[in-house]
Amino acid sequence: MAKVICVTNQKGGVGKTTTAVNLAYYLAKDKKKTLLIDFDPQGNATSGLGVDKNDPSLGSTMTEVILNKANLSEIIRPTKYKNFDLAPATPELANAEVEITGMTRKFVRLRDAIRDIEANYHYIIIDSPPSLSLLTVNGMIASNYLLLPVQTEFYALEGVAQLLESMKLVMKQANPNLKLLGVLATMYDKRTSLSSQVYAEIKKYFKDLTFKTTIPRNVRVAEAPSHGVPVGAYDKFSKGAKAYKEFTKEVEERTK
Ligand SMILES: Nc1ncnc2c1ncn2[C@@H]1O[C@H](COP(=O)(O)OP(=O)(O)OP(=O)(O)O)[C@@H](O)[C@H]1O
Ligand SMILES: [Mg+2]
Repeated sequence: MAKVICVTNQKGGVGKTTTAVNLAYYLAKDKKKTLLIDFDPQGNATSGLGVDKNDPSLGSTMTEVILNKANLSEIIRPTKYKNFDLAPATPELANAEVEITGMTRKFVRLRDAIRDIEANYHYIIIDSPPSLSLLTVNGMIASNYLLLPVQTEFYALEGVAQLLESMKLVMKQANPNLKLLGVLATMYDKRTSLSSQVYAEIKKYFKDLTFKTTIPRNVRVAEAPSHGVPVGAYDKFSKGAKAYKEFTKEVEERTK
């Protein structure tokens, strides 16, 4: 059965999508059959992998899956990379979220959808939106692990307590086996003392749950999505690519 990892933080722009895409890429490169589920109406993981989210011929996406109008297996598409599949999302997913609010089984739609295909993968990575919304709760309920990227800047840990509360609630109500896989420091800038201060603060709070690898602020990481590729495929020798490769090893170690 696949190990399902939900990349989440309700704070915006902290590196969730970048982490989801690059973790999936390096897992696949390490011969792990991997599915990346774009579960954010922004569709950044989709466009970051070179799929045009506004293309009318895209067909069904996570929107139809969540509305029970398509099976997940019908919308999964291969990426350019071996062992790496994508379930795309478009802005319509936001409307679907509103629609399911009044429907039955609204919290377990993603878990139900994953059931059919989870035997086909070693890892399923879910990219979530920057909110503690119904979609995010669906992501948490469908997962074995939460992965929390935290940007090494002022206010980094703001909102984290609330996120952990939501996680506890999900554990109590729906998914007792959910675990925090770890906290990843992103956009680490070694030239500033702020980054190291924030990293120290993260370690103080999360102790061993903090990943040893930190992701540096690196222009190649920021450029890669505009070319529709993970940074590992864009410039595998860049500091950002190397860091995501190292980080992926830690994830594999922790999910053994
Ligand atoms: N290590 C990095 N170095 C430089 N730029 C980065 C790095 N990580 C992410 N970025 C850039 O920062 C921005 C935010 O990253 P990303 O989209 O991954 O965050 P997010 O948490 O998914 O955002 P949202 O909350 O909107 O979904 C993007 O433009 C991305 O390219
Ligand atoms: Mg994102």
